[in-house]
Amino acid sequence: MKNTPYRCPVCKSELAIEPGAGLKCSNAHLFKYADGTSVPVFASESNDVNEYTISNAAEIHDNALRWVFKTFSTSEEELRENLLSRLQLKEGQKVLITGAGAGNDLPYLAKKVGKSGTIFAQDYAGEMLLSAVKRSKELYGLSDYDIEFSISDATNLPFDEDLFDAVFHFGGLNLFSDIAAGISEMNRVVKDGGRVVFGDEGLAPWLKDTDYGRMIVNNNPLLNFSAPLEHIPTTARNLNLSWDPSYCFYIIDYTAVKNPLPLDIDVPHVGMRGGSIRTRYFGQLEGVDPDLKEALYTAAKRKGIDRVSFLEELLRSGLENNKNDN
Ligand SMILES: C[S@@+](CC[C@H](N)C(=O)[O-])C[C@H]1O[C@@H](n2cnc3c(N)ncnc32)[C@H](O)[C@@H]1O
Repeated sequence: MKNTPYRCPVCKSELAIEPGAGLKCSNAHLFKYADGTSVPVFASESNDVNEYTISNAAEIHDNALRWVFKTFSTSEEELRENLLSRLQLKEGQKVLITGAGAGNDLPYLAKKVGKSGTIFAQDYAGEMLLSAVKRSKELYGLSDYDIEFSISDATNLPFDEDLFDAVFHFGGLNLFSDIAAGISEMNRVVKDGGRVVFGDEGLAPWLKDTDYGRMIVNNNPLLNFSAPLEHIPTTARNLNLSWDPSYCFYIIDYTAVKNPLPLDIDVPHVGMRGGSIRTRYFGQLEGVDPDLKEALYTAAKRKGIDRVSFLEELLRSGLENNKNDN
């Protein structure tokens, strides 16, 4: 059985090709191909039907995009080139696009990673994803490029950790069943030092209470979303938040560094209070008589040492005496 780049979204074990059937893991979870294709179906649309599951979804989406570009006086090429350049892709690299829709980003990504690179494109809606498969060949002429399509859930991706040089998403995150999971999954599958770029509707906050803002939010309430900064992984570095086009879609880009932010919690503070991040956070004592506290501060000042050192000295000698008494 030939191994595949996919992992079972149920038990996370490897998936191998089961001839004539689909992809199967060692725990017998089987994922069939979409009819007449070799596109694995990892998540069934019927579990969570969205507006992109209807039969002419790709055409409806095309119309919506045309409206956006005309209304906000920008071109699709300009916008996608701007967003995708933030992935900092190089020839031969591996990139994932989640919620790829009808595949509008594919020609731009193909140009960046070339024929030696690999593009993984996934979407929950089979209708959209299968349009992307068709368009990649018939409209964009990308038959010679390595593009791996899957119908899967961006909040539970069928991939191992640290697989991609970059991950991209545009336009669907606000309506994901779990926005936090959509972001943490992108972060999980990108390599240490890889790039993550995503964006969706979300008017810049300073425009919300203006005629401009009220008109466009009235027209499309999704514009009322805000950049989901609260869900950014704690290890994100060099993060940029911007808006494009016309301050109507938030765009977040960052470098995914997998080790935590550097923090030495034992650097002593010089000054009246003394202590360190560790002692101040982990060493807090119960409340004491406020007059006693003031007396302690005054005594520490008189002695010319910081409060934490003075208090620790008193506590140590008190404990020592207490030990001797017992
Ligand atoms: C507005 S379209 C954007 C398509 C494409 N990214 C673009 O820029 O043209 C949003 C897409 O997100 C997909 N989507 C929504 N929830 C998803 C999920 N949980 N996993 C994967 N795709 C999802 C929808 O099916 C739809 O194709």
